[in-house]
Amino acid sequence: MQEEFSKGEERLCERLRLSGEEAAAFVQALRSGACARKAVVLSPRAPADYAPPFACEPADAYPWLPPRVFIPAPGAAVTAHEDYRAGLYYALDLSSCWESAALDCVPPPRSSLDLCAAPGGKTMLLAARYLPADHTANEVNAARRGILRQNIELCGLPGTTITGLRPDQWGASGRVFDLLLVDAPCSGQSLLAKGLRNPGCLGAPMVNGNAKRQRGIMLAAIRCVAPGGHLLYTTCTYDPEENEKVVSYILRRHPEWQAVQVPCLQGFASRLADFPAYRMLPVQGVGAGGFACLLQRMG
Ligand SMILES: C[S@@+](CC[C@H](N)C(=O)[O-])C[C@H]1O[C@@H](n2cnc3c(N)ncnc32)[C@H](O)[C@@H]1O
Repeated sequence: MQEEFSKGEERLCERLRLSGEEAAAFVQALRSGACARKAVVLSPRAPADYAPPFACEPADAYPWLPPRVFIPAPGAAVTAHEDYRAGLYYALDLSSCWESAALDCVPPPRSSLDLCAAPGGKTMLLAARYLPADHTANEVNAARRGILRQNIELCGLPGTTITGLRPDQWGASGRVFDLLLVDAPCSGQSLLAKGLRNPGCLGAPMVNGNAKRQRGIMLAAIRCVAPGGHLLYTTCTYDPEENEKVVSYILRRHPEWQAVQVPCLQGFASRLADFPAYRMLPVQGVGAGGFACLLQRMG
């Protein structure tokens, strides 16, 4: 390990089992703060033949890119256009689109619950594929729920129900869905790669605290999935404790659950899991990074 790494950086590189060269490139990307990549997803308001009113990069380099997602060319004024204010498209991080790519492997659900939904990115990405007639976007934080509501109304997702229950309340509700999205609150280590401050995010207290919360959320979430249904677990952080280990905690205790292969993410397969799981680091040029694991409850 190089001497000039901070304790947190060194700890994270070890936990990610990066070689010396990989660790140097990873830390350099983190410190650059320049790895954010923007994307836009067309909303249901945009006609089928709609194209964004700014230059976009060709999508061929991203075989996992979800439908109706575009990558603005550098410098494109994405949020300055009136189509944005009219809700024809929603702006988000490219990593968030990458995290949702596993939805490719899920048959169109009749019902879905986005458990940690604000400000609404994953719900928009689901709607770009197929928004079930019965979709619930849930957010526990009242202020963030207000923003979620505004975004959903602006982008025209009329059938969506907005709720503010805690995961344990959902778990006890007896309701089940074909698809659950758990875009979990996390230590947000990828914020560093976007040039944002996130003090303590590499330290054990923040990582372990989040992992504990994520295990609790997942234990409740799996109770809300119908037999045969799917759950997509995603985060925007790197530490395995909040990613592979959360999933493995669930798989060990609940043998009726299995992780599902996602062919379009094959190049991102995690080497830290003995089940299919996918992680993207900022050195891969697709954004600040993220983790995704698609789970299925056996029928
Ligand atoms: C990563 S963000 C979700 C981003 C959103 N899915 C999107 O794509 O726009 C995680 C969300 O979980 C919420 N949250 C925080 N603590 C929570 C908890 N204990 N249970 C459920 N959600 C929680 C946060 O308020 C935050 O809105």
